[in-house]
Amino acid sequence: MRATAHSALFTVMERAARKAGRQLARDFGEVENLQVSVKSPSDFVSTADLASERTIRAELERARPGFSFLMEEGGVVTGKDPDHVWIVDPLDGTTNFLHSDPHFAISMALAHKGELLAGLIYNPVLDELYWAEKGKGAFLNNRRLRVSGRRDMGEALIGTGIPFRGRGDHAHYLKLLGATMEKVAGIRRAGAAALDLAYVAAGRLDGFFEIGLNKWDIAAGILLIREAGGFVGDLDGGTDAMESGNIVAGNAKLFEPLGKLLLAAGGSGR
Ligand code: IPD
Ligand code: CA
Ligand code: CA
Repeated sequence: MRATAHSALFTVMERAARKAGRQLARDFGEVENLQVSVKSPSDFVSTADLASERTIRAELERARPGFSFLMEEGGVVTGKDPDHVWIVDPLDGTTNFLHSDPHFAISMALAHKGELLAGLIYNPVLDELYWAEKGKGAFLNNRRLRVSGRRDMGEALIGTGIPFRGRGDHAHYLKLLGATMEKVAGIRRAGAAALDLAYVAAGRLDGFFEIGLNKWDIAAGILLIREAGGFVGDLDGGTDAMESGNIVAGNAKLFEPLGKLLLAAGGSGR
């Protein structure tokens, strides 16, 4: 039995995610073989990434002709209906994928005039499908999701994204990390921002922060967390994480103290 009746919109998104997910899972199997061969696997991974995006776009376009797109690889594609925008990351966790780590996902969301209507994050290796529709709750496969109930920062497990070579202000990030590690039970850098946010929605993480993400990394996750009873904001104390990409998220109790802690440590640093 389904925990909730699926809407036509969800069916469209699920079909696209499962089709692209099958391809990605197959390609992931190949990457493991390439690691031990002399060939560089990175070209192969970009091909898999592009193929995933092509499949998702074709499926979504077929079901909802005219809707617009914001895609990581293909950029902005304005259709006849500029108000409806699919926001797509065809492979989140590329570095994991490249290193044969199965922690990666497809992330897609639908926005209408900037408002998030639906979001889906799919890890095809574990067959974990996280999804949410505005006002209807958040789910993992057929199970309803709630953020964690933890209220003590000292017991909290916090996810983050650590900047890497050529990306971000490393010294500033270390201030945020330093301030957080003083206070919490643990910090995780799992390597796929969309899944980090899905984990907050699922109560596996109590909070999350990262500087400089893109809309396709976070759109689906933001809706999932809100529909699971959590909160999402901007690292500088604002509410619009989608625009800035400097995101802090948390369960109902820890969102505020985590946000304050990060703000006191310098926020986004911008
Ligand atoms: C990356 C992942 C990673 C985050 C990076 C993103 P990609 O996305 O979400 O966790 O730290 O900032 O760019 O490149 O694997 O789609
Ligand atoms: Ca991404
Ligand atoms: Ca990506």
